[in-house]
Amino acid sequence: MTLILALDVDTILREEELLKRLKGTITHYKVGLRLFTAHGKRAVDLVHHYGGKVFLDLKFLDIPQTVAHAVHEAQRLGVESVSLHLWGGAGMIEAAVSVQPRPKLWGVTVLTSLQDKDIKVFNSTAKVPSMVKKLAKMGWVHGIEGIICSGQEVELLRRSFPHLDMRFVVPGIRPAGVKRNDQRRTMTPGDAARLGIGHIVIGRPITMAPDPLKAAHDILREMLDASPSALEAT
Ligand code: C5P
Repeated sequence: MTLILALDVDTILREEELLKRLKGTITHYKVGLRLFTAHGKRAVDLVHHYGGKVFLDLKFLDIPQTVAHAVHEAQRLGVESVSLHLWGGAGMIEAAVSVQPRPKLWGVTVLTSLQDKDIKVFNSTAKVPSMVKKLAKMGWVHGIEGIICSGQEVELLRRSFPHLDMRFVVPGIRPAGVKRNDQRRTMTPGDAARLGIGHIVIGRPITMAPDPLKAAHDILREMLDASPSALEAT
């Protein structure tokens, strides 16, 4: 199980402070739209400079050839994984998967900010859980390495496709007693460890903590207490 820190900060200075402080404790970092739009390759290179691995979370969604080229460029940046929207369809996913060599591909099903009423524009009877299931299955059978979803959806997907052995990347992790911020469908690090989730993404409970290193240690401890093998490589 891997803890990925969401580097949702606005400056390279702040990024570097966190990397220095957490070096040796956290090995995986998420560079997302904010940091990458502001600082591009520099933000990715800085993580590598401190020995970390990068999940480039730009949620690719475009025509197949454009996404395939973007996956190729992500490989050249040296990132370990990238995200793409499974809404892009089977052709787009196939094109992304066919790039060799390439980073791991992690697929977003339905953003956790969307509700049934938002997806009604596509289909008046559509419901989020059934869309999540359809998109996750399409992504998985086409060869992506992980499904990005909430902890609740992990259980739904495992129940729905017990034979597929899907791997999951779960954001919205909140230790008990810590602010939920704008997250709604949250899960504790301990529950994520008990469920055997491969990767969890966590940001503000660490980046906004008065002592980010202590917050990271507390979260890792909670995971280990819940499942002694939690931090073994996945
Ligand atoms: O600060 P926090 O722990 O909420 O950060 C979670 C990270 O995961 C953020 O970068 C957010 O954009 C991302 N994310 C999410 N929910 C999704 C997909 C990505 O919170 N469904």
